Amino acid sequence: MSRSALTGLVSLAIAAPAEVETDLIVVPFVEGEALLETVPGLDDATGGAVQKALASRELQGKAYEVFLTPVIRGWRAGRVAIVGCGKASDYSIERVRRVATAAGLAAKQRRVARVGFVHRAAGTSLDPAAALQAITEGLILAAFNGDRYKSRDRAGVPPERLTVVVEPGSGATAALERAVERGVILGESSNLARELCNEPANVLTPSVFADRGAQICRDAGVSVEILDEDEIARLQMGLLLGVSKGSAEPPRMLVMKHDPPGAPAAPVLGLVGKGITFDTGGISIKPADGMERMKDDMAGGAAVICAMRAIALLGAPIRVIGIVPASENMPDGRATKPGDVLTGAGGRTVEVLNTDAEGRLILGDGLWYAQRLGATHLVDVATLTGACVVALGKAASGLFGHPASWVEVVREIASRTGDRAWPMPVYEEYLEQMRSEIADMVNTGGRAAGACTAAAFLKEFTEDLPWVHLDIAGTAWADDAKPWQPKGPTGVAVRVLAELAFSQKWS
Ligand code: BES
Ligand code: MN
Ligand code: ZN
Repeated sequence: MSRSALTGLVSLAIAAPAEVETDLIVVPFVEGEALLETVPGLDDATGGAVQKALASRELQGKAYEVFLTPVIRGWRAGRVAIVGCGKASDYSIERVRRVATAAGLAAKQRRVARVGFVHRAAGTSLDPAAALQAITEGLILAAFNGDRYKSRDRAGVPPERLTVVVEPGSGATAALERAVERGVILGESSNLARELCNEPANVLTPSVFADRGAQICRDAGVSVEILDEDEIARLQMGLLLGVSKGSAEPPRMLVMKHDPPGAPAAPVLGLVGKGITFDTGGISIKPADGMERMKDDMAGGAAVICAMRAIALLGAPIRVIGIVPASENMPDGRATKPGDVLTGAGGRTVEVLNTDAEGRLILGDGLWYAQRLGATHLVDVATLTGACVVALGKAASGLFGHPASWVEVVREIASRTGDRAWPMPVYEEYLEQMRSEIADMVNTGGRAAGACTAAAFLKEFTEDLPWVHLDIAGTAWADDAKPWQPKGPTGVAVRVLAELAFSQKWS
């Protein structure tokens, strides 16, 4: 989805639901609330259908249940959808976003072109602007189509008009409008990341990935540089070169800078994203079953690119550097072999025990480069370990780092942006698992605590700067459809990285 396709798609209406001209008007319904009293005219507009559905308990307000009924009289919408929100105690910004996506997906399935979503500010304790932003994000996330390569039966009918509706008296119009605009930018940026993740690896080679990322960022006013193989070699990024050696496709390093006039010298946020456009495992090759999924091993890189876009469009007040080392990981006569020793740009030597632990290698050089360019605070994002999926499943990303205060800043933002991340330890013991007989480190620490030993490896490249590592191996791709999320790429981490650039807390 290009930016222009969505620009002008969403609007804010400060109005009663009855007044909104749309094909489908969505009314969220929290379990146990007095829906008919708090939404005046709803029952009459639907000819008593809502009351009946409540009486028969077809309509209960359970999270993501959808009840559709035509408008008979009074309201200007064609149909009404009541969408369950679950218990009042669960009604958070994250829940609102998911409810909006569920409603948007239900509308899309029915090929509804114009959707309005009513935020009933009076019924909740949520900040109205934050809720409108989340609703906008949710509706745009629902508009994502992953069917670019279908020559027929394309499922995706793009919505023609999305209206976020809020009752008069819910706050200053300008602030509410800004919130919707913010939601548009963050929703679009998430979808752009999803589109990149969906691209097959024969299309999205490292150089194409870097070019596409550069284009996305340039369009948003980010300054961009792409380092080619010669420049990568000149900088002695031996870890990135070691991973790309087995591939016919040369590596790239995408460097993005958001440098707003008047920004303070510090902090400088350094975002580093893993950009493996295909991970076969290399000589330590992966089994065939499910290997196709490894086209999304650049999801961390996509998140950094699309977060940089959002950061620029939203006008973050601080300097931000984005770094995406991009490579394939392939087996070949020239590929790095188990036992080979590589030297990173910062001089650290790594004995490669398993060529499938390639993400941490390219991130090592990426983290080094972010610091060389002046980053004072580091965040890396990577589909790094299967072990993280074992630990947390698909419910949360792994969250690692130091100091604890900086990790907490990221955790809190992640929880409200819908990029849930759960804290995991980086104990000294994990680093001990990474000792090599002949080099500074090995690249795998055995079966125990695989997500944590990977983080301990990365920590060696952070030189004690505040650093967070997000392992998105489980969260970047949805294997099953949920009411609030279709199968496929999720765009995880775009929003948390973008909102982080607006944080007031720098430890
Ligand atoms: N890209 C994979 C991690 C991954 C696994 C992402 C499953 C998404 C789903 C990574 O490069 C990898 O292969 N990690 C190895 C590390 C091991 C060799 C120490 C793993 O997790 O098996
Ligand atoms: Mn791998
Ligand atoms: Zn990988």
